[in-house]
Order: sequence, then structure tokens, then C-alpha cells
Amino acid sequence: SQRAAFFDKIPVGRLMTRMTNDIESLNEMFAQGAITLVADFIKMLAILGIMLVYDATLTLLVVVTLPFLIALVEYARRLMRASFRQIRVRLAAMNAFAQEHLSGIKVVQLLGRSTTAQREYDEINAGHRDAYLGQIRADSAMYAIVEAIGSAAIGVIIWFAAGHRAESIPMIGVVVVFIEYINKFFIPVRDLSAKYAVMQGAMAASERIFQLLDNDEPDGADDPTSTRKDADTAAPNRTGPAVELANVHFSYGAEPVLRGLDMRVPRGATVAVVGATGSGKSTVIKLLTRLYERERGAIKIEGVDIRDLPLDELRRRITVVSQDVVLFAGTLAENIELGQQYTREQLEEAVRRVGLDRALARRESGLDTQVAERGSNFSAGERQLVAFARALLRNPEILILDEATAHVDPEAERLIEHGVAELMKGRTTLVIAHRLSTIRNADQIVVVDKGTVIEQGNHEELVAKGGYYAALERTFRRQDREES
Ligand SMILES: Nc1ncnc2c1ncn2[C@@H]1O[C@H](COP(=O)(O)OP(=O)(O)OP(=O)(O)O)[C@@H](O)[C@H]1O
Ligand SMILES: [Mg+2]
Repeated sequence: SQRAAFFDKIPVGRLMTRMTNDIESLNEMFAQGAITLVADFIKMLAILGIMLVYDATLTLLVVVTLPFLIALVEYARRLMRASFRQIRVRLAAMNAFAQEHLSGIKVVQLLGRSTTAQREYDEINAGHRDAYLGQIRADSAMYAIVEAIGSAAIGVIIWFAAGHRAESIPMIGVVVVFIEYINKFFIPVRDLSAKYAVMQGAMAASERIFQLLDNDEPDGADDPTSTRKDADTAAPNRTGPAVELANVHFSYGAEPVLRGLDMRVPRGATVAVVGATGSGKSTVIKLLTRLYERERGAIKIEGVDIRDLPLDELRRRITVVSQDVVLFAGTLAENIELGQQYTREQLEEAVRRVGLDRALARRESGLDTQVAERGSNFSAGERQLVAFARALLRNPEILILDEATAHVDPEAERLIEHGVAELMKGRTTLVIAHRLSTIRNADQIVVVDKGTVIEQGNHEELVAKGGYYAALERTFRRQDREES
């Protein structure tokens, strides 16, 4: 399993290409018997040996063609390897484009991008075709030239025999034998060129597969700066805050995203994080769950540095309900379980508690309802509730909510509010809040701006302070008035 940053950087389509086409190409090499190359080579040596027994001079004439053949094969190899690399790159681009545009097909259609997308795809496609043409040219040229050299060799032998020793009758027999053997000699050479093409393709593919394997930076790999010697030295400190971030710095690239962020979530409390879009709120979650590693500062849960906790334990103790809920093809029950085992009663209870039962009442098969790919047959609100049910069953010590910014209708809103309340009961919660109701009910509100905390306190305190939060709260109230 790779680190999150890896998947953020590399397009899905490219990874898919490596996992399917490139591997397929390697497979082809073995299936098409590139291994028989060795046999072909031995065959050629044997034929030369037999020729040598018949007539040394004539054999020499055949051997003279060998440097040409070798030079040719080497030249074709370079050409082919280059075009195979091109083909692989273009194929990956094609798959990446197709994957992205098919998953985002609704946006493509609704924003009238169909024609542009089609044109772009045509371009990528044409690039792929041209790269293929290059390879086919190299391949067929090689085949043809090998044939030509073979014919030339036969010509030279007939000419040589005619000029020098035409009078000797046994010589005619030898020439006939040579013509046969030259034909036999050039068949493996020709086959070799065909297998060579397959092999060059496989080489180009394996280069890419190895690149991928070499890139292996495992998810949550042990950090060299970790002070952990073994897990049980990390005794939980039952008096400290449940979650503590101190002077945390982080950036995805050159631009710093978090600059000395401090945050504490007392045990059992609810802390709401608010702040402008792009201020780094979701990034805090990624660091807390070690999808990304902080650059400086300390992050602790129950007084233990998160780097000193085994990754699976960390992710068992913290459950994140994020802005976008991912559903997989399968039944609803499977989507709630997500690989864990729960009884039917537990599932039903969770569904009821988060209020998903009402949404399910409209579906005949209830928990066995089939979820379409990417959950397209579930509404945004329903998907949120599914995520709540998942989290509820996992029963984590610490709950992290990244509230969806999208507004849903008031009825769904009430359902979600109810679901959230149920989920938060008796649990330490860090919530990135976009709803005034959530923010107002929090024990603490932390206002984040440009990667640092600029205000902190409860609702009343912050309103009284008349700063960023007070202004934010006014806009919230204005929106509410306009909506009702
Ligand atoms: N995977 C990533 N690679 C590079 N930059 C990223 C990545 N994810 C986020 N960023 C950048 O980091 C900054 C903080 O992003 P973050 O998602 O934490 O914002 P946020 O506060 O959660 O915003 P929102 O309220 O819109 O959800 C943004 O400027 C964003 O462009
Ligand atoms: Mg966010």
C-alpha cells in the first residue's frame, strides 16, 4: 500500500495501464516464446556448422552477411525500443484521460465540454496511432531487409559457384544444398526479428513496471525520527487532551499550508474548526490519520505521538467521516460493514440510529439494496447517513467530521443533524464545521486562517470578541434569514 501523496500525484488511468497493459505485454513475451530465442540461435549455429562441413569458402560468403544482420538488428532494436516507450506513454495518457472523463462524465456533459474533450481525445489517440506506426515501420523494415540479405546471399553464392567452379558436377549439388540451408538459416533470423519486437515491447513495459515498484513508499512507513522502540513504551497519558497538535508545519509542495498550528481537543469534548476555504482544515485531518506526515511540530492522541502508534491502531481509534462519501458497488450492508463483520441486528440498529432507516423504507430490499457504481443511486444526504452508520459501528474513541459544504434540503438537513448528534454522543469529536448549528453547539471553536489559529473560544466568547468569527456568524445568520 502506497502513501496518500502517491495516489494524489499519479493519475488513476496511468496506474491502471501499468497494472494491466504493461503486465500483459510482459506476459506476451513469455507466451509467445521469446525464450525460444535461444533455440533459434542454436539452430543458426548448427546450420552454419553443417555448411562448413560441405564447403568452407561458400560458408565464409554466408558469414560475411552476419555483421550486416547484427548491425541491422541493433538499429531496429533502438528504433523499436524508442517507439515502444512512446506507445506505452501514449497508451497511459489515453487511459488516464478516458478514466478521468468517464468518471466525470456528468460535468463534461453539463458544462458542454463534450466536443473539446472529444477533440483532445482524438489528439491523444492520434499520438498513440503514430507511435504504433513507427513501431510497425521498424518491424516490417527489419523483416524485409532480412529477406533481402538472404536473397542476396543466395545470389552471391550462385554467382560465385558459376564463375569459379561451374565445370565440377558435384559443385552443383553443394550449391543446391547451400540454397536450402541459407533459406533455413534466414527463417530463424526472420522469426527472431518478430520475437524481437515482442521482446522490445516487454522491455519497455518492464521498465515502467519497475519504476512503479521502485517508487514503493509504503503507507505510514516507520519514520526514522520516531522515538518508539517498541509499542508498549507508548503508555497513554490519561490526563492529557484526547488530541493535541502543537506548532504543526506542513506543505504539499513549495507553498506552506500549515504554519505552526496549535489545537487541543479535551477528552469527550467537541471542537469545531472553522475557516475560509483552502485554509488547511482538511489537511489537519490528513496529518492526524497519517495519510500525510507533518514536517515539524507534534501531533499526539491521548498524550502519545501518533508516529509511535501502529498505523492500524491509530486508524482504529480515529474515524473520519469526510466531505465526500465513497460508496462501492455491492449491497448497502456491505458498504456499511466495509470489510468488518457485524451482525444483522448491529447493522439495523446503526441504520436506525443515524436515521437511514427512513430513507431505506422506500427501497424494497432494505439493507440488501444494490449500490450502483460510485453510489449513483443514493442521494448526497443518504450517502452522508451511510458514512455515519459506518462510523457508528466502528465506535471510535475519536471522531473526526469533515462536514460537506453542499447544502441539502431542510428535511435531509434535519436527518443529517440528527445523525451527527447520535454519532457524537459521548465521543471526543473534532468537526470541521460548515453548519452554524454544529458550530454553535461545540464546546470550543477554533478559527483557522492561512494555516494558523487566529481565534479560539466558545460561541458567546467569540461573538463578543467581534473578530473573524463574529463576522462569519453574521453572514451565516443572514443566509439563514434569506433561506427561510
Ligand atoms: N493533495 C494536495 N496537493 C497539493 N495541494 C493540496 C492538496 N490538498 C490540498 N492542497 C492545498 O492545500 C491548501 C489547504 O487545503 P485543505 O483541503 O486543507 O483546505 P480546507 O481548509 O479543508 O478547505 P475547504 O473548506 O474548502 O474544505 C489549499 O490551498 C489546497 O489547494
Ligand atoms: Mg476541506
